[in-house]
Formats: sequence, structure tokens, C-alpha cells
Amino acid sequence: MSSKTTFFIANWKMNGLPKNYKEINKVGAFLSDKYKQFKKIIVYCPPMSLLTYFSKKNTSKLLNFGAQDISVTQLDFGPQTGSVSPKMVKLGGAKFVLIGHSEKRAKGDNFDTIKKKIISANKTNLKIIFCIGESLQDYKKNNAINILKKQLSKSLVKNLNFNNLIFAYEPIWSIGTGLVPNEKYLNKIFSFLKQYLKDNYKINTAKILYGGSVSADNINNLKLISNCSGFLVGGASLKAKNFIEIIRNYYT
Ligand code: PGA
Repeated sequence: MSSKTTFFIANWKMNGLPKNYKEINKVGAFLSDKYKQFKKIIVYCPPMSLLTYFSKKNTSKLLNFGAQDISVTQLDFGPQTGSVSPKMVKLGGAKFVLIGHSEKRAKGDNFDTIKKKIISANKTNLKIIFCIGESLQDYKKNNAINILKKQLSKSLVKNLNFNNLIFAYEPIWSIGTGLVPNEKYLNKIFSFLKQYLKDNYKINTAKILYGGSVSADNINNLKLISNCSGFLVGGASLKAKNFIEIIRNYYT
């Protein structure tokens, strides 16, 4: 477990105030003297309103920042009320961006908008955390693989810099529910994704994360998923104590 890089991505969604920077600071302090021997990448994705503030305040080299979204718009500046471009999130301190999260899909992001966002994030050299996952209905119908194929094939173009792409498998029915798929199911999905990305996009070592109700209690089971490069953590990333416990349990 120690030789590969593991991602721990904190998705704060629509939560946080300036004073909550202290939670991030605590995680930075924890990482500075523990588990130095392990390769890991920690990324905080706060709401857009806090991105610059948090990234400027941060002094830990062990922490990275990401945006939760970018607009479908031109790459830099322009007359687009309410939009934030890839360049602007980069200037705000983001190296990463979440694209395709199911909560954004539920508010109107479709295959085409997601494709455009991926292309412009790629052009701007942002590292993309591309979220995919099936609904409860599709899970029950045993239809997850078809859904995932569609989500990948309709939004990925072939000439992207795939080194900048990280995949996050997040079954929608797991997000914020406390429900987590069993190990057998997850192994099946992860091995499908690995093979599909290799066969169709020549990605030989795809970085695939799991997201959905990750907690300090279930990380010991989740870390057994083969081919899993880390975790996208929502609710349990808001408090340093919970996020630290996830990282600690992963490595012990
Ligand atoms: P959750 O959210 O950990 O609160 O389930 C994960 C996500 O939506 O990225």
C-alpha cells in the first residue's frame, strides 16, 4: 500500500465559512509529521467563494486545492455573468477541478456540457477529477456498467492529456446516504473501468477513486478495493478530526 500514490479529495460542497480554515490547517499540521513515508495527494475543494481565501492562507506544501466546477465558457475572461472560467479558478489557487459530479448533473450538466468542461480544464492544465456513477434504479437493474460506459464515451474525447485525468466512481445512491457497495461489487466495477479505459483510451494506469459515504469506519473495507487510487470524501472531510481519522485508518 505504501508504494502507490493515494488521493484523498475533500469535497466541501456548499459548506464552509472563512473561520473553517482551521480544519484545513489542522490536517496540514497532522500530515507534516505523520506518514511522511507514504505517497499521498490531499486536495481540498471548497466552495468557489472560499477557494482563493483558503489557498492564500495555506502554508502547507502537503495540501492542494481544487474547484468544485468550472463554467462552460471561454477559457479566461469575458461577458459571462455568473461564470467562473478555468483560468480564474487556477488564479484562485486551484490545481484540480471536479467535473461531472452527480449533484451538478442533477442541476443540468449533461454529457455535452461535461465534455466541454473537460476539454477546457484540460487546455488550462487543471487536473480533472471526473465523477461518474449509477443511480439506485440502475444499480437495482444491474445496469451500472452500461451507464458508466455511456458517461465515459459521451464525455471523453481521445486527444486529452490523460495524465491530467483522475476518475471518481461515485454511485449516486451512496452519496450522503451511509450506504456503500460491497467489496465484490466494487471490485467488479473497478476492474471493468480499468480495462475499459485501457482498451478505449490507452490509459494503462488509470487513477480511479471511490466516493460515496466514505468514513473512518468503512475505510478499512474500502481500502481493499483493487485498483483503487484513493477517495473522494464529502461530509466526512468537513471536520479535520474525521478526515484525519480516514487517512490514519487507511495507513494503519
Ligand atoms: P459523501 O459525498 O462523502 O458525503 O457521501 C461524496 C461526494 O459527493 O463527493
